Amino acid sequence: MNNFININKDAPIGFFDSGVGGLSVLKEAIKLLPRENFIYFGDSKNAPYGSKTVEEVRKLSFAAADYLLGKGVKALVVACNTATSAAIEDLRETYPQITIIGIEPALKPAVELGRKGKILIMATPVTLAESKFNNLMKSFEKTSEIVPVPCPGLAELIEAGKVEGKEVEFFLKDKLHQYMGINIASIVLGCTHYPFIKKELVSIFGSTVPIIDGSCGTAKHLRRMLLQNDLMSERTESGSVQIFNSLDSQKIIDLSYRLLNL
Ligand code: DGL
Repeated sequence: MNNFININKDAPIGFFDSGVGGLSVLKEAIKLLPRENFIYFGDSKNAPYGSKTVEEVRKLSFAAADYLLGKGVKALVVACNTATSAAIEDLRETYPQITIIGIEPALKPAVELGRKGKILIMATPVTLAESKFNNLMKSFEKTSEIVPVPCPGLAELIEAGKVEGKEVEFFLKDKLHQYMGINIASIVLGCTHYPFIKKELVSIFGSTVPIIDGSCGTAKHLRRMLLQNDLMSERTESGSVQIFNSLDSQKIIDLSYRLLNL
């Protein structure tokens, strides 16, 4: 149990992910909550989470949460679908006094579009195998044709800074060739790394197939929870962003700032 729990309005909000992926969520949160201070922790040393055991992901998620709580955050955003499915319930149970938000695949907004065809859910093997996602899928599968597409290897490319070009294009075409040229209702990006390769997906499927991710919904949920728990900062000037990573490498910090400013 962490001893430095902070519930002061002016404290920062902590975000974590297995690496640089959660920056896609942080980016939306900064737009929505410009007066908040943010601390981001990327666990690139232990990435990818998506091919580990649930127990390993749970342990790493607690280590990341403890690191951020040690920095005095007032709220925690699990900006990783894999960590959310493996650990969010245990985190909430362990830290009941902390506002904890987790991202999960944005299946509901995809279903609500009411488009005909298959809904492809791209995510890590852990996210797609866990009961959190399977319960979500069950609640919609009577009305929609949902196709889980595990993408081991994709987050690793993005961690290496490859967000466009031949290698990403080859990976995506290899993974998705059976869905090209058929009726696709939408594509759900169920891993926070994947919004960074959205441009490549558009070049494969065209701009008429909606590509949905949970970052906006998660940022809105964070704002709602801050309001509800009376935790919104009263600062009048813009907030700050600090980025930390478990890898001792300037390269990953530079990549993080580059992805955040895209
Ligand atoms: N960004 C993480 C997610 O949202 C997963 C990437 C990984 O496998 O580490 O699921």
